[in-house]
Order: sequence, then structure tokens, then C-alpha cells
Amino acid sequence: MENYKVFVDTHCHLDDPQFAEDLNEVIERAKAIGVTRIINFGGDFQTSINAVNLTKYEGLFAGVGIHPEEIDDAINRFDYTTELAELAQKNKVVAIGEIGLDYHWEKDTKRRELQQKVFIEQLDIARQFNLPICVHDREAHGDTLKILKAEAKNLRGVLHCFSGSLEMAKEIWKLGWLIGVDGPLTFKNSAKLPDIVKATPADMLLIETDAPYLAPTPHRGKRNEPSYVVEVAKKIAEVRGINLEEVARITTQNAENLYNIVQGGR
Ligand code: NI
Repeated sequence: MENYKVFVDTHCHLDDPQFAEDLNEVIERAKAIGVTRIINFGGDFQTSINAVNLTKYEGLFAGVGIHPEEIDDAINRFDYTTELAELAQKNKVVAIGEIGLDYHWEKDTKRRELQQKVFIEQLDIARQFNLPICVHDREAHGDTLKILKAEAKNLRGVLHCFSGSLEMAKEIWKLGWLIGVDGPLTFKNSAKLPDIVKATPADMLLIETDAPYLAPTPHRGKRNEPSYVVEVAKKIAEVRGINLEEVARITTQNAENLYNIVQGGR
């Protein structure tokens, strides 16, 4: 199939209980609007297994990893890296994520250092299996960038739901990494995001929903779902002054390249 208005939702959480009643309809609505592929990400062991289980649906792929707010699920295990490595080798697992740093809720220095350790250990798993990485960075821009520069050599990935500055974005692109853009771009208070989206090299941009969170306008405040990724794409088209077909083409190509998810390939 050609890429004519074909979209990829490169980041969501369809295992969330909010989808328990109507998951099939949610996936069908996505396909009907052209969202042919969806990548679900885990944040601890259970949700990573959930993401893998969801790959039984055509067009659904998985990322597995331990989110910075869930590091206890890693460090309380005897050997979490071996367990995660096993999950990483499952069919249709296309990434390690979401992993990274979250300093919004974590103010304790020792705990932040633990987040960094678990982040770096998971970068090693990505390297071991040649998988790209989906990074969660909330109010930890400096340390995230520092770790990517020092510990992620020869790795590729995306800063999902990018919330840094244009200066930081430029550093990210220099490393060959992408930024992921979702609902907040469509919000009235999107601040610096439109300028960043405008400045992003065409091959460094991904679209995502982070569903069920962060629903874009005009669905803001409601449950988000993969079909709404088109609203993010429309806003990108507006900001960059290009048509929706072009946004679909470049973002789908970028998703295929980063995550190795060619249509019908798996
Ligand atoms: Ni997420």
C-alpha cells in the first residue's frame, strides 16, 4: 500500500482499562481513518506484557520497558534485565520504551539517580537487540540529554511527547534522534511547540497520541484514541504550511524507518 494519507500512531496505551469495553471499535475507527499501524508501549512488566499481547491484532506493535515512575518494579526483581530482554525478543516488539527520567514527581536525589541507572541499563538492552528507544523525559531535560550523549552512542530513538526547548531539540536532532508530537500541539497554550514543529527537519518528526491521555483539540479532556492522531497531523500541516498528505507521508516514512514496521511486513 502506498503512503497516501496513511498514518502511524507511534505511541499509545491501548491496554488501559478505559479501552476494555470497546477496543475493537477503537482499532477499527483508527483503520477507517487511515491509521494502519499503532505502537503500544509498556511502563512496567505487566503493561509491557499487555502491549505484547495486543500485537495479536493486525497492525499493532509493542514497545517494552520500565518507565521512570515504575523503577521499583525493576529493582525489586532478582534480575529484571534478563526478564526484560526476554520480552524484547518477542514477535512484533519493535522498541524499548517507554523509559527515561521523570523529575516532576520525584524530588529525591537518590531516587533520581536510581531512575538514571535503570534508564542506562535499558539502553544496553536496546543495544543488545538492536532496537530503537522511546524516551519519556519530564522536567529532566538536562540529565536526559547528558545520558543520551554519553550512553546512547550508535542507538536511535525518539523523545516522545517532546516538551523541551528548541535548543534541546536541536541537540536531539544532532544525535540523529527524533521528536514525537501529540495532543499538546493543538492546545491553545501550546507555547513553544509550534515553533519547534516548524523548525523540525522533515525526517525527525513523529506523530503520536499517548492515548488514553492528552486528547487533541477538539477532543481535549476526553479519552484519547489512535484515530485522533490525525488531528495532530492536521495541526502540523497548518504550522508547517504543507498539506495533510505530505504530513502523512513524512511521518509514516519516519515511523517505518525508526521502528522497522513496513506495511504488511510483519
Ligand atoms: Ni506514554
